[in-house]
Amino acid sequence: MAGSTFGRLFAVTNFGESHGPMVGCVVDGCPPGLTLCAADLQPDLDRRRPGTSRHVTQRREPDLVQIVSGVFEGKTTGTPIGLLIQNEDQRSKDYDNLVQTFRPGHADYTYWHKYGLRDPRGGGRASARLTAPMVAAGAIAKKWLLEQYGCVIRGYLGQLGPIEIPFARWEDVSANPFFAPNAALVAPLEDYLDELRRAGDSVGARIHVVAERVPVGLGEPLYDKLDADIASAMMGINAVKGVEIGAGFRSVAQRGSEHGDELTPEGFASNHAGGVLGGISTGQPILVSLAIKPTSSIRIPRRSINSEGTAQSVHTEGRHDPCVGIRATPIAEAMLALVLIDHALAQRAQCADVKVSTPDIARKAQS
Ligand SMILES: Cc1cc2nc3c(=O)[nH]c(=O)nc-3n(C[C@H](O)[C@H](O)[C@H](O)COP(=O)(O)O)c2cc1C
Repeated sequence: MAGSTFGRLFAVTNFGESHGPMVGCVVDGCPPGLTLCAADLQPDLDRRRPGTSRHVTQRREPDLVQIVSGVFEGKTTGTPIGLLIQNEDQRSKDYDNLVQTFRPGHADYTYWHKYGLRDPRGGGRASARLTAPMVAAGAIAKKWLLEQYGCVIRGYLGQLGPIEIPFARWEDVSANPFFAPNAALVAPLEDYLDELRRAGDSVGARIHVVAERVPVGLGEPLYDKLDADIASAMMGINAVKGVEIGAGFRSVAQRGSEHGDELTPEGFASNHAGGVLGGISTGQPILVSLAIKPTSSIRIPRRSINSEGTAQSVHTEGRHDPCVGIRATPIAEAMLALVLIDHALAQRAQCADVKVSTPDIARKAQS
């Protein structure tokens, strides 16, 4: 299937299916000399993996990553890095009754029309299981960006269904199963999700991702703009239906006197641009926000058709996340890291010798 390679200089080719023996990727173009072992990748995979709380799917996947090439004596060699993750807990029988039916909100109908055949087990290639290798590749990118520039990429849940979660503290994000940046909201989120699960329904979410200490100058106008590539990467994540950079759709109601970020010797006075101007990073934090749709697999019966076009009723009894947005936070961080490393390598190739005397006011403000 075409469309499985992401990135130009740091190119990640993803393979596998939800219920095949394994998923994985090949990372080609990683700079040599980066200290790397599986333990560097595992923490982010653990943050994404299913079965970690009652609020996510109970599929039991250890998601242990294996590095099978491209690392020698603990350092990347500059050759392709092979990453493998075994699939352990498939229950393909859960999908037997879906073979002839198209589940609303899933890729079944479009895959069928496009390819004329279908792997219905766990969503096959359309499954969010394929985000696991991207999280592993993203962890390599995160490590390199941190070591090169001090760049830190982290995300959080900004809204779950009707519950808005005002940002309180980064420390709270890792202290609850929702990636919520506000401990006071954890109990209401639990109550809401428990009720949702009892009703057999699902809900959408908003995720925020922030990259700090990004070098100024990343991005290639016209058609490889940094924000364009970020939007493309985020839309590549399963269930994402909207992407905003900086003020995003709030820009519609803003005036120029508010939106345009003023420059001062101490730094930019605001960040409505979300860290990108003219498709090039300003050096301010990159601010990305994602809209994630409600999980399509729900116990409530929905109308559909079979492959003959006859009306059918579909409901799903398999194990599913009541809100797929919860586990999307590490995935969004990984995709942002992959875009940034790709652009950082391109920047080194073309513009490494460019010197200007103007201070980097955004970096100064973040140091
Ligand atoms: C982390 C994660 C887990 C997901 N798990 C499920 C799931 O259990 N059930 C489901 O119906 N969709 C799930 N999805 C969404 C589907 O993969 C996705 O909606 C489907 O493949 C159709 O693609 P699209 O929504 O991008 O158009 C998940 C998405 C993410 C990001």
